[in-house]
Amino acid sequence: MQNWKHWRLDIDADNLAWLTFDRASESTNTFSTEGLNELSGVATHLAANPPRGLAILSAKDNGFAAGADIDEFTSFQNAEQAFTFTTLGNDVFDKIAALPFPTVALIHGFCMGGGTELSLACRYRIIDDGAKTKMALPEVMIGIVPGWGGAKRMPALIGVLAAMDLMLTGRAVDGRKAKSIGLVDVLVPRRHFTNAAQMLLKNPPPLHHPSFFASMAEWPMFRGIVANILRKQVTKKARKDHYPAPYAIIDLWEKYDGDPRTVPMDDPASIVSLSKHPTTANLIRIFKLQDRLKALGNGDSDIRHVHVIGAGVMGGDIAAWCALRGLKVTLQDLDHARIAPAIARAATLYKRRLKLPHLIQAAMDRLMPDVKGDGVAHCDLVIEAIVENAEIKKKLYAQIEPRMKATAILASNTSSIPLQELSQGLARPERLVGVHFFNPVAMMMLVEIVQGPQTAPEVMKACQIFTKKIDKLPVPVKSAPGFLVNRILTPYMTEAQVMLEEGIPAEVIDAAARDFGMPMGPIELADTVGLDVGLAVGRELARPGWPQPKKIQDLVAAKKLGKKTGEGFYKWVNGKPQKSNGSGTVDLAPLWMRMTLPAVNEAVACVREGIVGDADLCDAGVIFGTGFAPQRGGPIQYLRSAGKEKLLAEMKALEAKHGVRFAPDAGWAAI
Ligand code: NAI
Repeated sequence: MQNWKHWRLDIDADNLAWLTFDRASESTNTFSTEGLNELSGVATHLAANPPRGLAILSAKDNGFAAGADIDEFTSFQNAEQAFTFTTLGNDVFDKIAALPFPTVALIHGFCMGGGTELSLACRYRIIDDGAKTKMALPEVMIGIVPGWGGAKRMPALIGVLAAMDLMLTGRAVDGRKAKSIGLVDVLVPRRHFTNAAQMLLKNPPPLHHPSFFASMAEWPMFRGIVANILRKQVTKKARKDHYPAPYAIIDLWEKYDGDPRTVPMDDPASIVSLSKHPTTANLIRIFKLQDRLKALGNGDSDIRHVHVIGAGVMGGDIAAWCALRGLKVTLQDLDHARIAPAIARAATLYKRRLKLPHLIQAAMDRLMPDVKGDGVAHCDLVIEAIVENAEIKKKLYAQIEPRMKATAILASNTSSIPLQELSQGLARPERLVGVHFFNPVAMMMLVEIVQGPQTAPEVMKACQIFTKKIDKLPVPVKSAPGFLVNRILTPYMTEAQVMLEEGIPAEVIDAAARDFGMPMGPIELADTVGLDVGLAVGRELARPGWPQPKKIQDLVAAKKLGKKTGEGFYKWVNGKPQKSNGSGTVDLAPLWMRMTLPAVNEAVACVREGIVGDADLCDAGVIFGTGFAPQRGGPIQYLRSAGKEKLLAEMKALEAKHGVRFAPDAGWAAI
């Protein structure tokens, strides 16, 4: 046995080498300069003393490797250091690829970025068939390219179209999918890794190649055509000035055969250019903020049984999600007929996500209709998601609290009622908390964990841990109207509607918001959420001096509620808004400035009032709760990068023109 700091090499009696990645002092394997240099040493050693074959595996329970060490990547003082790091990883993985004997990567759990690229440098890959296995090249999500050979080796292995599908979206695949697209050679449970690797290394089969048709796209004469088709597809989803990375990935493959070492530094596809682009810094910051939110949910949860009351839009989907994530769930509503649609939606969700009949059945078995509410007495957590009416909610609490275990938590999914009001009359007000999911539950990552003045800190913590356990991101917030996300979103949505009533076409307003970087314009978003919901929230959060747009009131009165009824601000056909014309030659910047500044102002107010712990958490909440222009880094980061004085001057000019709703909050001074 030979030990390096982060790697251990064992040679067995059959002269097979087993190289275990075990990054020192960390629970997750990531590649640092030190770890890569050691791996280079291991490769030199093995090339000089060749074994019969080499298996590379991980000692960490959570996975093979999560990619490059992001802390090291962000510590670089200049873009050239990022280039040096990229070159090192490439050189080392090339050494692994050049080893003159069979090599195999044994993949379980997370296999991301550099982890996937190391596995691609091996001749074979064996993957665990478990639910936690996830393989991806997610570099695009942080604004860079797969720089350690992935952009070359993945297209060569599975064909460029399948590879681009993964590289341009950053999407992860599980073991089954990885096997079906040829990304891995063998799919087995992790406990069979040793056997499978021995068989493969002793009798190496032919290497995998993409089908003839898939490989045609790699031919030089077709590369340009394929690259242009890919660029057209990307243009529909992301603008090049907002998100240069997907365009860089296509260029890297088309012009530089996937090797970032050969890209001129001043080419927009180079690591240096991408590292200098503001989007990259903002996306990396969001990636780290996501980790911070996850860490807020660290710890062991003793919540095993959740009882959800209200099987409507929210409660039904919350219950389905909790059961999907392995919890026992009872679901209560006034009668069976109201629970049935939620169970049907759950079945559709499980079919899409779980695919295998036995897994779907197990999830369905965990989700139990419970009209009588028997689950109340046994559960660890009640999530109440009944109608948004304080009196009706309090009446329900009076009935259920005496039946709950003394240790159980009572959580409300209310979007607007203060917890201090809901806690009146409770015997254990300290166990009442807000657990505010967003719609649609299966898509939205964020859950606001709402602390009333009476909520105990350990109840907050338990709900944060629960949220992480069901793979959502918790953000703790104080109980105040709109909490964090709706409070910041509402003035932006309202301003868009005021502009609409001034005669600016909906298409132009939506185009302006997208020009800023929003994934969807506010008028289309209002229609998508439902105008009845939007109107109720707008009314709840309205302040003196704020306008009350009339058109939305008229549409709701006429039961034109948006996408769900086929008409709202737009007419909707086959789930798509019918937009009449483009935005023409209108200067969009003043329009998005006018819509986004009220949201920025409200974010400043939330930080000042301590609704959320700090400015970073505020940005994280708004991005993960609303999709707020990720490449801008969130409202506070946008304020900082655009320049506080500049935006303050814009606010004051808008205040002079439109009134008090643009008055800068007192918190601007402290940002
Ligand atoms: P919904 O109207 O779709 O569903 C409410 C369900 O509660 C109905 O099925 C109703 O039969 C049931 N219900 C009413 N009283 C009950 C009782 N005493 N016992 C058992 N079941 C009872 O409402 P939705 O939209 O799901 O909202 C539920 C809660 O979630 C509300 O507090 C709302 O503010 C909040 N919320 C809603 C969001 C949305 O986008 N719809 C987003 C986030 C929170």
